[in-house]
Amino acid sequence: MSEKKSPPEHLLQRGSWGSKFAFVLAAAGSAIGLGNVWKFPYITGVYGGGAFVFVYLFSVLLVGLPLLIAEILLGKSAHRDPVGTFIVLSPKGKKYWQLVGWMGVVSGFVILSFYSVVAGWALSYVFRSIFEPFSGLPPEKIDHLFVELTSSPGIEIIWHFIFMFFTVGIVIGGVKKGLEKWSKILMPLLFGIILFLDLYAATTKGFVTGLTFLFKPDFTKLTPDAILQALGHSFFTLSLGMGAMITYGSYLKDEEDIVVPAVSVAVLDTLIALLAGMAIFPIVFTFGLKPSAGPGLVFRTLPVVFAKLHFGMVISFLFFTLLTFAALTSAISLLEVVVAFFVDELGWDRKIVTPVVGFLIFLLGVPSAIWDSFFDFVDWLSTNIFLPVGGFFIALFTAFVLEEKLKKIHFARYPEYLYRGWNFTVGWISPVLVAIMILNRFGILKLIFSSPFLRKLLGVE
Ligand code: PHE
Repeated sequence: MSEKKSPPEHLLQRGSWGSKFAFVLAAAGSAIGLGNVWKFPYITGVYGGGAFVFVYLFSVLLVGLPLLIAEILLGKSAHRDPVGTFIVLSPKGKKYWQLVGWMGVVSGFVILSFYSVVAGWALSYVFRSIFEPFSGLPPEKIDHLFVELTSSPGIEIIWHFIFMFFTVGIVIGGVKKGLEKWSKILMPLLFGIILFLDLYAATTKGFVTGLTFLFKPDFTKLTPDAILQALGHSFFTLSLGMGAMITYGSYLKDEEDIVVPAVSVAVLDTLIALLAGMAIFPIVFTFGLKPSAGPGLVFRTLPVVFAKLHFGMVISFLFFTLLTFAALTSAISLLEVVVAFFVDELGWDRKIVTPVVGFLIFLLGVPSAIWDSFFDFVDWLSTNIFLPVGGFFIALFTAFVLEEKLKKIHFARYPEYLYRGWNFTVGWISPVLVAIMILNRFGILKLIFSSPFLRKLLGVE
């Protein structure tokens, strides 16, 4: 940190956001994605509603937000990609911290490969809504359409390719002319569509039932598994643990505040997840369908409902456009992490790196489109291992390795207790909760708790 070499030319010419507002929109764009419109509603459905939502909100506040601040702070302090950020910020002789950055770059690569396959399904449903609308089709036929799509790798791969093509097209433009410009176009559209869908849901018979399901906690339904899922999801939904927020933070100008923007991003992300639930559950209940369909909730259950609604074709078009836009503004942040690494660390040209990396990610996505088991594996590996492990080390690094002086600058305009509270949460609460989550993934937690010694100690048996 201390040696004063002037940075190479390409690092001096790094882009930056035009304003704090642009950063908030782009970062919210990264956070708001399939995680909010597809995954949050279906896991809420599976884990029984209100109580799950309650734990999720708690996790966002206790683990998500402090870590979000940490990532933005790291990026803004270093003005580099995740690998470079750890190289610049780790003390002499502790360069091994850059491994956390490397893991982030690999995660970006892997996550985008299957994320784009799901986004491709959404995109194909946008077109289906226009050219072969669901209206009038019997439920079994609609259900079969999804099975057909996911068992025709050829078609899936084409949509996956088209989606990656758009993603590359945006990222190639760089920070201002790519990420910022498109976030400013897509995010307002996304907000508009979701508000419209919510207003529509408010006119349906199932509105009150839907809201009750979403907001009335029944804690007897809460299982330990649901708690861990909620915790894990707070990570995924805020794009944490792999350096997306480090990268976006790295394009912030020095004088910019990070606390209010981070809070805004967390609030927007949570709001959109809840609004998505408020749009989906009422119409599901209106037709007496089950909310617990799992991953097929928006691709199988919803189209059945759309087929029966007045103006179902319009609603279905808007819904899948929403899903596609949400996925696109997240996909560009995943790709940006990988691209920023090549541009910042190796000095390569963005115009060449972006399509090449994009194409390689497309190729890695192909097996996910062909084999469900491959898809499940990469999904499991990244959401349950890479992101939490990444988040765990990012938290420890920020709390215990990063110079205090560097952290305090970002809190200069706030009272001291805010800084202390944040630092404590990042250093102790987040890592402990994340560690529990990781141990549980490997079944280690179960093993520990089934040990006769511990059971005796706790007085079980
Ligand atoms: N936050 C995105 C979503 O909710 C997913 C994502 C994860 C994006 C990690 C970037 C990094 O869909």
